[in-house]
Amino acid sequence: MPKIVFLPHHEICPEGAVVEAKKGESICDAALRNGLDIEHACEMSCACTTCHVHIREGFAELPESDELEEDFLDKAWGVDPDWLLSCQVIMEEQDLVVEIPKYAIVVGTESSSLSKSWMIKSDKLISIPMRGKMDSLNLSVSAAIVIFEGLKQRNDN
Ligand code: FES
Repeated sequence: MPKIVFLPHHEICPEGAVVEAKKGESICDAALRNGLDIEHACEMSCACTTCHVHIREGFAELPESDELEEDFLDKAWGVDPDWLLSCQVIMEEQDLVVEIPKYAIVVGTESSSLSKSWMIKSDKLISIPMRGKMDSLNLSVSAAIVIFEGLKQRNDN
């Protein structure tokens, strides 16, 4: 069975973890089956980026991402080409070393914001100050502002 080494993550696996993956299951499935509570907001339907991981070793042996996965990864914050959606990486024979990111930016809908469960899970809630009568900004505009500011602050440090 292929092994997945998860590097330490302060909440999910502070000491790191090594799990045996079943052939044909995703990294996300293997993590969840072994008690590692990796985020998977769209229930692994390739419709979000909350399950993205950094493949530290073994990336070259993996098949290329498909177009849909790449489209979502393009929207994720601060990822490089060796980041993948863990629900879309199907294990075969290869061993992997994986890092679960420390951050995820979750943007609520324009009309109803984030669900209560996401608000409870979030370490920090932010809003964009606005003047005038607008209730909210367009979702993509909000996401662009938050990602821009996040990258700016990261580069300033
Ligand atoms: S859980 Fe949403 S893309 Fe993987």
